[in-house]
Amino acid sequence: MTEMIDTTVPAAPAPLPVQPPSGCPFDPPAEFGTLRAEEPISKISLPDGSWSWLATRYADIRAILGDTRFSSDTTLHGYPLSGMTGGGNTDNRGFIRMDPPEHTRLRRMVTREFMVKRVEALRPEIQRLTDELCDAMERRAGEPVDLIEALALPVPSLVISLLLGVPYDDHDVFQRLTGKLLSRTIADDEREAARIELRDYLDALVTAKEQEPGDDILGRLIVEQQHTGEISHDDVAAFAALLLIAGHETTANMIGLSALTLMQDPGTAERLRQDPTLIRGAVEELLRFHSIIRNGPRRVATTDIEIDGQLIRAGEGVVVAVPSANRDATVFADPDRLDVGRANAQHHVAFGYGIHQCLGQALARVELQVVIATLLRRFPTMRPAGPVEEIPFRTDMAIYGCHALPVTW
Ligand code: HEM
Repeated sequence: MTEMIDTTVPAAPAPLPVQPPSGCPFDPPAEFGTLRAEEPISKISLPDGSWSWLATRYADIRAILGDTRFSSDTTLHGYPLSGMTGGGNTDNRGFIRMDPPEHTRLRRMVTREFMVKRVEALRPEIQRLTDELCDAMERRAGEPVDLIEALALPVPSLVISLLLGVPYDDHDVFQRLTGKLLSRTIADDEREAARIELRDYLDALVTAKEQEPGDDILGRLIVEQQHTGEISHDDVAAFAALLLIAGHETTANMIGLSALTLMQDPGTAERLRQDPTLIRGAVEELLRFHSIIRNGPRRVATTDIEIDGQLIRAGEGVVVAVPSANRDATVFADPDRLDVGRANAQHHVAFGYGIHQCLGQALARVELQVVIATLLRRFPTMRPAGPVEEIPFRTDMAIYGCHALPVTW
């Protein structure tokens, strides 16, 4: 009897869909829509040839991010590191890449610093900084101004530097290094060199602060946690790296994209100018619509888990497509439309979900509310200085946005 041999070569899974170079620059890859309908938990290949699961439905994504059997520990075998920002570094990785109980212990040390009440108290200072930067922009009227350089990056960068106690004069250093760490396209050795340079910079900073701890987050960590033996010098530096990186690149890109969207949609901009009480809801909708975290979060299963009928085995990785969840029509009606009056926009998962949900979300919200309202009020005629097709979108970065946004008014 002849044995039947299956000679079909299993097809390699498609790569993780990334922002297309053409089409609407605000929309996530079109493949997500098809996957949500047909194969919500699908296999994808990663740049190093390995594979991972990709989750695209809102409900599945909340189930995964809300289930601590899916680990954030990047040192675990099977964690889908390939193509991820920050690369595979494992030392001092920050609590974003840890599981309970260590994640809970470390996150708790800084939770109060980012609570709504604390952050609301910063609103006048954030407004003052924003006004100063807008004054400087006004003085340049008539010439194209890069909104990213003039406003979107400095506001969150100044605020997080102030909160942490990092000298803003060093912003060139940490912005350049952060940019490299968040690039999906630079060579591994260049990214590793940037990581080491940032580590050395923060190491020296923490050493200086150990002698003279200021009244800021790093100073308080040194006095209350390091001096009492709860954490080490290296832990303080890891806090600094995580908060510095997470604290300015994200909000900066949201500011840029939000400003551009409103320049492209004068009707909505006018509606917000007429009724500033809509700003809070508008920020939630802009967060949903843009979903700037484009290739994560990521997890690895620590045990066999079934999600939406698909078995994910222990040791298998999952890439969670936040931009896809936020365009899921079963949750958000007419999801591809920006609707600043949308009643349930705040249900978005742009800040993640579960125990790792964004620690800085209250701060990001206040920064976005202040900057967007101020721009609308002070620069009602602002428009892109050239064709939108020429804007360099961050298709090469894990955090989506614009590298530069030349505007005029
Ligand atoms: C629009 C702005 C922002 C967006 C879209 C954003 C998005 C996110 C997302 C999706 C996560 C979850 C990661 C995961 O589940 O693995 C996260 C975590 C985090 N974010 Fe943000 N973020 C923003 C602003 C900020 C700011 C201003 C800070 C300031 C410190 C910050 C600090 C953090 C930290 C520390 C974590 C880790 C939390 C944990 O692991 O417990 N983020 N962020």
